Amino acid sequence: MNTQTGALLHQAHMTTIEALQSLEEFLGANRKPPQVDDLVARRMKQLSRTLRSEVESHFGFEENHLFKAFVEQGETGIVTMLTHEHRSILPLAIQVADLALAAAEGGSFSESAWTEFKDAGSELIEREIFHIQKEEMGLIAAISALIDPEADQELADIYRREVG
Ligand SMILES: [Fe+2]
Ligand SMILES: [Fe+2]
Repeated sequence: MNTQTGALLHQAHMTTIEALQSLEEFLGANRKPPQVDDLVARRMKQLSRTLRSEVESHFGFEENHLFKAFVEQGETGIVTMLTHEHRSILPLAIQVADLALAAAEGGSFSESAWTEFKDAGSELIEREIFHIQKEEMGLIAAISALIDPEADQELADIYRREVG
């Protein structure tokens, strides 16, 4: 059975994966700090928005609403693991989002900002994709097993209201 909540999470995961793949291409194509023209600036702003939305609103929904419902059903193992991963991804994502925004606003990457962006970006890509794969394989199926249609409706409404 497909749930609304699962479908909403899946959609956001795909958006994040796309943003991370585009980041990976961008990092791979530029050994030295790239020029920040209008196109790159727009890309960096978009990246910053997507990352912040993922780790602030989306993680927030998972932890404050969805994981809570799981814990009420005694499913603490998966919740502990995924929450732990959120803790390790969040600061990295904010760091990458801030560097991207600073480059967009300042019109350039300095040598050191580019090195930092590349290192943090590569690490983020790895951790976040791994995390999303786990949620796609385990969490979304667990939602349909554990959450009844009424609770699903409530969670989906909360998601649309708080995350968009
Ligand atoms: Fe997620
Ligand atoms: Fe998550």
